[in-house]
Amino acid sequence: MNIEILGADSMGARSMATFVEAGGHSFLIDPGVALGPRRYGLPPHRLEFEAKDAIWRLIEERAKVAEFIVITHYHYDHYNPEGLHVFEGKVLFIKDPEKNINKSQKGRASYFLEKVKGIAKEIIVADGKSLKIGDVELVFSEAQPHGYTPRLGCVLQVLIREGNFSFLFTSDIQGAPLKEHLDFLLESGADVVFMDGAPTYLFPTKFSKSALDAAFSNTALFVDEAPFKALVIDHHTTRDIRYQRWFEEIFAVAKEKNKRILTAAEFMGRENLFLEARRRELHKGEGSASHNQV
Ligand SMILES: [Fe+2]
Ligand SMILES: [Fe+2]
Repeated sequence: MNIEILGADSMGARSMATFVEAGGHSFLIDPGVALGPRRYGLPPHRLEFEAKDAIWRLIEERAKVAEFIVITHYHYDHYNPEGLHVFEGKVLFIKDPEKNINKSQKGRASYFLEKVKGIAKEIIVADGKSLKIGDVELVFSEAQPHGYTPRLGCVLQVLIREGNFSFLFTSDIQGAPLKEHLDFLLESGADVVFMDGAPTYLFPTKFSKSALDAAFSNTALFVDEAPFKALVIDHHTTRDIRYQRWFEEIFAVAKEKNKRILTAAEFMGRENLFLEARRRELHKGEGSASHNQV
């Protein structure tokens, strides 16, 4: 199996876009990239726009050859309703657009599906489904809350298995604060996991102390017990410039167990580009933010 992370917050923009080749088939998961509109009261920096464009170009490249596309939920960092060419002739596995969804995502899903019908080859609602494509097994979780509550809607986790090797893509579970997140993670037994970690930058205003405690204790338990070979923790987590301090205990558990935790950029053998987390510093470096506004 070949796992290529195309975009992630450690690569300069909000994304979890991933391309997987397995058993002679190819899968593109969450082909979207976006920028945090405002951080520290500042708009995205020029370098963030450049990173976003580069990730989008790579998504377009891989979309040319992908047979299957997965959309785990309807946030614009996970799909692009205006980039319809990406979906042309593809089989789409999508999060149920009507059930277990919040109002905002429901509206976005119906807008998108209206447009993509007739462009995609086939559209399959994937919640809770397991299926086989040749020798490859695809397992979708039931709809699970986007973090601690379903206020922001729900997401699907997806497991791709070929022979005795498997890859788990958790989507936006924000550190797995709920039992259902953790159960799917543990049951997957995945060798490589690409996980959305705890959103410490939203603490305490939008992610409570109890939510954060639950996310950290479940992540620690997963690191302690699961048999993975590599765990990529990224997305919401790497938007916080101090995330390594927050994750000290988790890293200690990993070290003790001799397990690998890394960012998406590190997984891809690249340097970390925490651009959104460093936005204040980037703007300061150029004296004025005004010319970066688009
Ligand atoms: Fe999301
Ligand atoms: Fe996201």
